[in-house]
Amino acid sequence: MLEFGPKREVYIDPMTTPTFIQISQEQKLAHSLSPAQTIAAELLKEQAEIAPKYFYDNLGSRLFEAITTLDEYYPTRTESLIFERYGAEIFGAIPKGRPLIELGAGSCRKAERLLNWMQPSRFVGIEIASEFLQEGLTRLSERFPTLPLFGLGYDFSKVLNIPNDTPELGQGPRDIFYPGSSIGNFEPPQALKLLKAIQVLSAEGSLIIGVDTVKETDTLEAAYDDALGVTAAFNLNVLNHINRILGSDFSVEDWRHTALFNEEDSRIEMHLVARRRVRVSWPGGERSFRESESILTEYSYKWSPDDFIQLLEDAGFAHVDVWTDVSRWFAVYRAQVLKPE
Ligand code: AVI
Repeated sequence: MLEFGPKREVYIDPMTTPTFIQISQEQKLAHSLSPAQTIAAELLKEQAEIAPKYFYDNLGSRLFEAITTLDEYYPTRTESLIFERYGAEIFGAIPKGRPLIELGAGSCRKAERLLNWMQPSRFVGIEIASEFLQEGLTRLSERFPTLPLFGLGYDFSKVLNIPNDTPELGQGPRDIFYPGSSIGNFEPPQALKLLKAIQVLSAEGSLIIGVDTVKETDTLEAAYDDALGVTAAFNLNVLNHINRILGSDFSVEDWRHTALFNEEDSRIEMHLVARRRVRVSWPGGERSFRESESILTEYSYKWSPDDFIQLLEDAGFAHVDVWTDVSRWFAVYRAQVLKPE
């Protein structure tokens, strides 16, 4: 079995605020695969795959920000409405002055509003796109000059195992913020594993998590295949990122974007479909794709509130409250281990 251990590297001047550290998931066994080898192995599967974490190079992170402003992409603005309407209630029950950790903090724009409500002792952003996170934290430091800010460049797409005594995390109990339905990009067993790890990281604090709900297929598919083609560009851009890591020769023009809702599994499935026969090569490997053969790039699961509450309880959270918008298009959950006083 592979074992992962975090390795810490401080590479930003520690005298500047915010403090940024990179934590790499280093595979300990000598025969374990490098990122390029893993990508190649997944491309060679019968159903070729590219992991969704590769969407988020610098351009991909910006394209995702653009997606969140599209008319068709309802999750971001619906989640914001829920926070505007119920923020005082959601955050009012959480004691002030504790560390606040945001998973997948991105450009830290959601954190800006949250900090006023929560008044935490520190803010810790955890994000795979570390350049993007650093930019966000720098902006945050201008608005909150006295708040200690920390950034952890970290990929938790396979496992979240930052030791609980990592000094940057601050002492527990901690409040964890995981908005935007990013949990939906994990298959249910992996989502459960991640929620269990979050429960441990919170050290009997709380989790506030935004999760997309099941709704009409047309609404869902339009959100992932918008008229302007921004989501298509986001999906196709993954090929350029893979070319840089793997040294492959994907041509974006050979592929088209699709996004379909699989009702049985309650998930959007995004693929890149070959427009014609395509041969892709990289150092040490190659693959041919038939016309219409596809690469799976993302699942985005949609959860009914009942099923998601059950998942939170299975992960060890005992007290779960949920808020939704009037159409029930999105849900925000507050989960705690201990009953709030
Ligand atoms: C980041 N994640 C929650 C987005 C989603 O809705 O699954 C990623 C995304 N993919 C296409 N559009 C947005």
